Amino acid sequence: MICVVVGTRPEIIKMAPIVIELQKRRKEFRIVHTGQHYDLELSQVFFDQLDLPKADHLLDIGSGTQANQTATALIRLEEAFLREGPDLILVEGDTNSVLAGALAGAKLGIDVGHVEAGLRSHDMRMPEEHNRRLTDHLSRLLFAPTDWAASNLRKESVWGDVFVTGNTVIDACLHYMPLALKESEILEKVKYDEFALATAHRAENVDDPHVMRSFVRILTKCPTPVVYPLHPRTRKRLKEQGLLKGLSESENVQIIPPVGYFDFLVLMRNCRFILTDSGGIQEEVTAPNIRKRVFVLRLSTERPEAVEAGFAEVVGLNDDEVLQSIEAYLGRPEQLRKECPYGSGNAAERIVTILERD
Ligand code: UD1
Ligand code: UDP
Repeated sequence: MICVVVGTRPEIIKMAPIVIELQKRRKEFRIVHTGQHYDLELSQVFFDQLDLPKADHLLDIGSGTQANQTATALIRLEEAFLREGPDLILVEGDTNSVLAGALAGAKLGIDVGHVEAGLRSHDMRMPEEHNRRLTDHLSRLLFAPTDWAASNLRKESVWGDVFVTGNTVIDACLHYMPLALKESEILEKVKYDEFALATAHRAENVDDPHVMRSFVRILTKCPTPVVYPLHPRTRKRLKEQGLLKGLSESENVQIIPPVGYFDFLVLMRNCRFILTDSGGIQEEVTAPNIRKRVFVLRLSTERPEAVEAGFAEVVGLNDDEVLQSIEAYLGRPEQLRKECPYGSGNAAERIVTILERD
């Protein structure tokens, strides 16, 4: 039996294709949700829209400092695994829930499979970089999305077996887009005819007031008006830094609450371009049914494939430089490639086939 661990919005989205595949092949599994994300719009909305079975364990770890959140997850995941006695624990990505799941599993002597293994930003300020490095070295099965990710794992001599599978987020984009186009009404709520889409939530960005002031200037001066689904972490920081009111009053920015997956897919598909520090969005823009230019508001990326394929540009954090990059792009919009560097939408199928043979 497999324990599928999720904790945050992107893990639910990226594990959904695997859960569907496990159901299709009648494999026995349990969903263990740490509760790192707990608001309806960051968690339950995805279970409902992606048609996932209710979590078998909801561990309610909630928010906290890095150590507190990771430690609480570690303790509660161990209890859940002891109750279930799985043969394999499956984790996805690089959150604190992922590291806790891998560590709890390894310490109980249970095999761990890491989906989206091998990503590296080489930016040790990021909690995600600690989590992904440690998880890769605790896992027996490493599902690398690309050859580049697999080569990172081999360079570090991980002890587990490495497989190149593509990224399950492309499966999700292909699978859910038709439903999203049918059901989402988000475009009726967008104030602008043409719009850019923005998201931001990385701790090393939004917890730094200097960076937040720069982001606010980028959004308010962006040559295309911006629709901005606001992550709760970022809302809190904008408020603390006295920036939320000014941003909300800008004619150039429409702040909305975080949206469900269907609405977000439709926003990505219909926007002019994207401004983000998100990881998953850098991959989704390369999906054949999205194909969008993304400006990555960060100093580095663990997803260089999206840059090499011409979809993403890492533009840094300086407002003037970011605005110049946007202006330059709008002055010479290029054709984006058809090939997707993250696979053809069968990553979950490949991963579950490997699990069956294992
Ligand atoms: C976490 C992950 C990040 C991932 C992101 C996906 C880590 C270290 N970070 O970041 O890798 O990209 O999820 O969105 O694991 N909050 C709410 N409601 C919620 C959840 C959080 O209001 O349901 C607020 C709380 O104020 C909390 C803050 O957001 O303190 C940060 O939440 P947390 O889960 O610690 O990190 P994220 O920034 O969401
Ligand atoms: N997303 C969403 N609603 C939103 C913002 C993002 O459904 O309001 C989706 C997005 O399509 C992607 C995932 O959430 O699949 C990315 O999550 P996030 O940026 O929070 O985390 P990261 O990928 O950086 O870990």
